[in-house]
Amino acid sequence: MTNLTEFIDFLKSRLVLSEIIGTRVKIMRRGRLKLGLCPFHAEKSPSFHIRDEQGTYHCFGCGAHGDALTFLQEIEGVSFMEALEKLASLMGLTVPTFKDKPASEESLQSKLFQALEAATVFFEKQLKTSKGFKAAQYLETRGVKPETISQFRLGYASVGNTLKEALRKEGFSEDILQQAGLIIQREEDKGTYDRFRDRVMFPIFDRKGRVIAFGGRILETGEPKYLNSPETSIFHKSQVLYAYNLVQRDLKKGQSLLVAEGYLDVISLHQAGFNGAVAPLGTALTEEQILLLWRFRSEPVLCFDGDNAGQKAAIRAAERAIPLLKSGLSLRFALLPKGEDPDSLLRSGGIKSFESALERTLPLSDLLWQFEVQQKPLKTPEQRAVFEKVIMAYVNGIQEPTLREQYRQEYRSRLKELFYVNSSKGANPSLKKASLSTSSGAQSFLNSNILSQKILIAVLLNHPSLILEYAEDFVELELPDPGWGKLREAMLTKINDSTGLDAGVLHHHLYNEGFREIIQEILSSQVKSLAPFVKEESEISEAREGWKEIWSRIQGQKKLTEALLEVKRRFGEDMSYEAWVEVQNLQQ
Ligand code: UTP
Ligand code: MN
Repeated sequence: MTNLTEFIDFLKSRLVLSEIIGTRVKIMRRGRLKLGLCPFHAEKSPSFHIRDEQGTYHCFGCGAHGDALTFLQEIEGVSFMEALEKLASLMGLTVPTFKDKPASEESLQSKLFQALEAATVFFEKQLKTSKGFKAAQYLETRGVKPETISQFRLGYASVGNTLKEALRKEGFSEDILQQAGLIIQREEDKGTYDRFRDRVMFPIFDRKGRVIAFGGRILETGEPKYLNSPETSIFHKSQVLYAYNLVQRDLKKGQSLLVAEGYLDVISLHQAGFNGAVAPLGTALTEEQILLLWRFRSEPVLCFDGDNAGQKAAIRAAERAIPLLKSGLSLRFALLPKGEDPDSLLRSGGIKSFESALERTLPLSDLLWQFEVQQKPLKTPEQRAVFEKVIMAYVNGIQEPTLREQYRQEYRSRLKELFYVNSSKGANPSLKKASLSTSSGAQSFLNSNILSQKILIAVLLNHPSLILEYAEDFVELELPDPGWGKLREAMLTKINDSTGLDAGVLHHHLYNEGFREIIQEILSSQVKSLAPFVKEESEISEAREGWKEIWSRIQGQKKLTEALLEVKRRFGEDMSYEAWVEVQNLQQ
């Protein structure tokens, strides 16, 4: 056997599938048929069929289908290689290691690695010379510390062909330098020149910590901001994550695996102690990269700017992940304050503000739901049908039957709740979309005071600058729940220093004072979908409009209650028909 495929064929030719499956599923025989209760969905009569001759299974109930390897992957939630190892060991074998490259290719590869290593050393040295002074200064202004520079092996590529000249002297051929992506050949005269000029250099490492490519950042403004190595025989950017090698070593229990968008985000995060930070290389997250993430954490956290572009990018990542989702394997999303990336947030708000963003991450299921609720009008049955189709299309994209069923149930019950609220008895078109996401149907719902109180507190929690503006109203707001009253007190004490107080920071302080549960209850997904203006990423003007609307509604409600009390007082205990009519009129 010379490769893995042959080994797998060898295993498959010798295994009896029903024996493998039999360790997990009770197998019944009906004549020549072997079948059992499907382990991938709940059922009472067996529709899970095993065909030993073909080595495959098929469930007529849920459509689950595959061979021994897919069975082990699905049932144990493991990777392909792990399933293969398991299968081999069940058969008393171990997976051999195969050299998959012939000797000549291997030596070419090692030359490329050597050239890239030599280039890294050269760039590192340049950064410390007078030529690299501007670049060193630039890194200092970006807050990158000397020990971080050496950890990430940052460097400087100067103007001219200094790299080519230096590496030629070390004995590397132009051909190798070109194949390594370090120099470029001109069409006209076949002359070559350095790819990276006057840029801060970020080496990109493979899993073993070998340099396989570079990203180079311009010092001033200009295009392109980052120049990256081209694809080479050892660099396939869709399969690499920046800093993945460091995470392998450093990720401690309890630390999240974080996915940022840029090199400097990753560097700042590591420098601030978030050792689980990685990034794709300037592209949307690929499937291969998601699989790499899942090796370390079942729910990596993707960080995005809370603005529209960031939200769209988050949705794209979610869509990419959907077909790959497995029981227990998913993504979470941290939507940062508008206009911030992790690097800028750490600089402006410190570690605390990033931590509080991490405390408010959304699971994938909420991200999709909230995004679509915001996008789609839901006033007519037709609009609601479109919404249902879109949401269920996501569900149908999930390959694993058990998980797909869980999503289906979850979204079905959310749809019920949402449509109950939205199916209007005469929609009120004057309500803007930015305001309440629902119309008169929601109104009766919102008249329940508790929800209105929640929304008002939520607005101020996510827009701290409004606390001062509405402090007088806020103090007057009736809050029967003593916990909420305490929270209000705590929020009001923060207003002295609330100018520019970021919501994340405010939450963090309040969490520390023991309000975490109350805050989570108040910032529930129900509140956010009914009143999108409470969200941190909504415009301050929307938040203000929203506050006023709910506030006047509560005032109206209060007047009504007072009038009712007055009537009841006037008529005393014995409610006559006359009094009853008056009460009815008031309640209209
Ligand atoms: P951003 O434009 O968000 O930049 O690109 P950034 O990471 O915040 O960079 P700073 O803070 O201005 O230095 C995000 C990532 O997209 C890739 C890079 O990987 C970058 O880190 N990118 C961006 C490119 O490859 N080329 C570009 O021209 C721009
Ligand atoms: Mn940035």
